[in-house]
Parts: sequence; structure tokens; C-alpha cells
Amino acid sequence: MRAALQPSPPRAEMPGVRLFRAKDEPVLGPLMLRAYRGTVDDEGETVEDAVAEVRKTLAGDYGDFLPACSMVAERDGQVVSATLVTRLLGQPFVAFTFTDPTRRCQGLAGACIRAAMAALQARGERELGLMVTLANTPAVSLYTRLGFVAEPG
Ligand SMILES: CC(C)(COP(=O)(O)OP(=O)(O)OC[C@H]1O[C@@H](n2cnc3c(N)ncnc32)[C@H](O)[C@@H]1OP(=O)(O)O)[C@@H](O)C(=O)NCCC(=O)NCCS
Repeated sequence: MRAALQPSPPRAEMPGVRLFRAKDEPVLGPLMLRAYRGTVDDEGETVEDAVAEVRKTLAGDYGDFLPACSMVAERDGQVVSATLVTRLLGQPFVAFTFTDPTRRCQGLAGACIRAAMAALQARGERELGLMVTLANTPAVSLYTRLGFVAEPG
């Protein structure tokens, strides 16, 4: 799916949403594992698998990691949602977005993605892409609400 990045009217930022920091890395693997557990994309990964996925994302295996356009959301001092953005084949790309299952449907992933889109747009980027399993209804619904449309093919 792909979204055009357009200047958006100023909107109140959700409290607790901030830029990714390198020191967030250790919590992201376990958070990713909890987020995907039981979803259509759950392939029985271990926490080591999830930690490795995060490490690969930050190391550039899925395109150059863009820390200045990657966001996390905190609640009670803990990171509970993250959106990690890379540049893949020249285009900004949401490598991962995930929210702690106990914090779903509070607008956290939406707020992180919107903040990432605003950061990208401010840097002159025009589009943001991502890949999603079509059976992942919560994600497809969220992305559609944020203006992402399916790409042909
Ligand atoms: C998809 C995901 C990131 C949404 O995070 P979130 O913080 O709950 O997102 P928001 O609160 O901003 O938006 C929630 C949207 O998902 C829907 N949703 C969330 N959980 C749902 C569930 N269990 N069943 C159905 N819909 C659900 C909400 O209805 C809402 O849709 P809407 O925008 O049409 O109202 C989260 O469910 C998650 O981490 N899933 C596992 C990881 C994943 O699949 N990531 C995306 C891979 S491409």
C-alpha cells in the first residue's frame, strides 16, 4: 500500500508520541513479539527472532533505517507502540508498526504513523509505502483510514 504525503493541517499531537531513540531498541523486540502473537502474521517466532528482526531493521537490512522519521509511543514511561521507517529502493517504507496488545485501539499506531508521515513530509518526501497481509484486517483498516491505498499488482 502507498500513501501520498501532503501538508496536513496542524493537529494536536498525541501525548507520549516521540521520535525513536537508539536506547529504545532493547524493548522493541519483546514488544514486537507480544504485538504479533496470535495475529495472522504470527509464525511462532521466538523472542530471539523478534530481537533479530528489530536489529536487522535498525542495521539497514530492510533499507536504510530513518531514525528521524521513526516514532514510538509511551504510556506510563514504557514504549507501547512503534513505527519503524526505512528507505527501501529509494522510497520511505514502514518496515514495522506494532502496538502492545493491551494498548490496542487507543489510536497509538495511528498517531505514530501520522507523526512519521509529518516528519517525512517536512523533509520533502512525497510518498510512504508499506507491505501488509490483506488478511490483517486491523492493519488494513488502520492504513486505509490514514490514506494508504492498495497498489496494483
Ligand atoms: C495493527 C496494529 C499496529 C494497530 O495498532 P493500534 O495502536 O491498535 O492502532 P490504532 O488504535 O491507531 O487503530 C486501530 C485500528 O485497528 C483496528 N483494530 C485494532 N485491533 C483490532 C482487532 N483485534 N480486531 C479488529 N480490529 C482491530 C481498530 O478498529 C482500528 O481500526 P479503524 O482505524 O478502522 O477504527 C496492532 O493491532 C498490532 O500491533 N498488530 C500486530 C502487528 C501488525 O500486524 N502490524 C502491522 C503489520 S503490516
